[in-house]
Amino acid sequence: MNVPPGPRGRQVLGFFGRGRESGTLGFLEETARRYGPISSFRLLHKRIYLVDDADLIKEILVNQQHSFERDTGAKLLRELVGDSVITREEPLHRERRRILQPAFHKQQIAGYARIMSDATAGMSAAWEDGQELDVRAEMRKLTLEIVGASLFGADFRTNSEQVSDVLVSAGKKTRWLAPLFYFIEPLSDKYRQWFPHGPSLFFRKERKDLDRILKPLLEANYDSSPSGETNSKSMLALLAGEEGILDELVTFMLAGHETTATALTWSWYLLSRNQQVAEKLHAELDDVFAYRPPASPATFEDLPKLRYTSLVFQEAMRLYPPALAFARRAMEEVELGGFVIPKNASVFISPFITQRNPAYFQDPDEFRPERWEDPTTFPKFAYFPFGGGAKMCIGEPFAKMEGVLALATLARDWMLCPAHGGEVSIGPGFILRPTQPIRMIATQRIKILEKAKVGTLLSPRVVQGQL
Ligand code: HEM
Repeated sequence: MNVPPGPRGRQVLGFFGRGRESGTLGFLEETARRYGPISSFRLLHKRIYLVDDADLIKEILVNQQHSFERDTGAKLLRELVGDSVITREEPLHRERRRILQPAFHKQQIAGYARIMSDATAGMSAAWEDGQELDVRAEMRKLTLEIVGASLFGADFRTNSEQVSDVLVSAGKKTRWLAPLFYFIEPLSDKYRQWFPHGPSLFFRKERKDLDRILKPLLEANYDSSPSGETNSKSMLALLAGEEGILDELVTFMLAGHETTATALTWSWYLLSRNQQVAEKLHAELDDVFAYRPPASPATFEDLPKLRYTSLVFQEAMRLYPPALAFARRAMEEVELGGFVIPKNASVFISPFITQRNPAYFQDPDEFRPERWEDPTTFPKFAYFPFGGGAKMCIGEPFAKMEGVLALATLARDWMLCPAHGGEVSIGPGFILRPTQPIRMIATQRIKILEKAKVGTLLSPRVVQGQL
């Protein structure tokens, strides 16, 4: 059979490495660049196909999506989140997605904006001039608070730290389990066949802890009242009474906080290394926020004016897409790019690799938000940080709004500069984490000049002029 080209023999060991340069990601990137739109290599008993081509990605995610199902990663995820929208296959996936969709309708999302603005204003007010921050830890705190409050209302805040500890522990376990899972997958499959509702194989303690924290919130929130200024409700109030809802809540917590926190972390990293972009962003924010006192947040109404801010967030997710790669398994023989993909083969697609493909993006490693001013210059699936098709991220509008509101609110008041020099490299795992903490010094941008003396709040532009 005609097999797509790719690395052979010992070269394939690179798959089990770490980081971008020498690890799995580096191996996949090099394979894609060297062998082209569709390549393949043998990993133990399996042949893996790697696709780096916008049209073929569209075939997998949209046109021929019914010939593919989720692959190994979803099985490992299932052991933590259980039977949820992110682990189900059709037709059960569609059924669950229909139930969850109202929580992400336009009007609902507008209601969550208030939660996002308030949480970010709280963080901005808590930072101190000259403080050294672990940016990723801060962003994780923020996004967990936001997704938690959107789900459960204000009650979540007291539990936020406990949930965070459990998720960190699960994340650590996943990083060493993920490469091993290739070997133990058949055993795990057997276990789930025999005990479809049995306890988690790998995350028993973490899942028990999450249930202990979340169950009382779930019970207390069934009659949750409206959460924002619009008449939208907390997510939980919308989903109350649905069977198996706890698994969905754990899924939202997991899928909805680490991803957005990662996108924000890399946004700060890129801004701190690209002075011109940072200046342009600050100019937009100074215009939009003129005359507002510090720590007053960007709001839902500001969104249409935060154009450059949203391009910054979009471009940051091009260079550092939080979900760096995901996989599908062919459920039948599929024709793709002139090759036949056999039944049961794994197909990898990677936003990280394709979004840096020079065939689609000029100077692909450069952080240039302006390239999004005319998005029609790229094929649609050259950029897919949220996936595509029926299993596309349900939280996309939520995450985009959260990213823009958080960036705008914090960047208006603060400038973050690296505490130590040097490039930050990428760690192993499903999420594009930095290998080491990204430490930055927060410097206050705006100072209100002796409110009492001036008697008015000055526009940031004026303040800057006087400093
Ligand atoms: C920047 C932030 C985010 C990124 C980059 C992201 C990325 C993704 C990607 C790539 C997928 C599809 C995976 C696949 O096709 O196998 C996905 C699915 C999903 N995401 Fe997100 N996500 C983000 C934020 C969120 C948020 C905020 C939520 C919820 C509040 C969320 C909930 C989900 C759920 C439930 C799914 C499964 C959807 C389904 O299978 O029908 N995500 N996400």
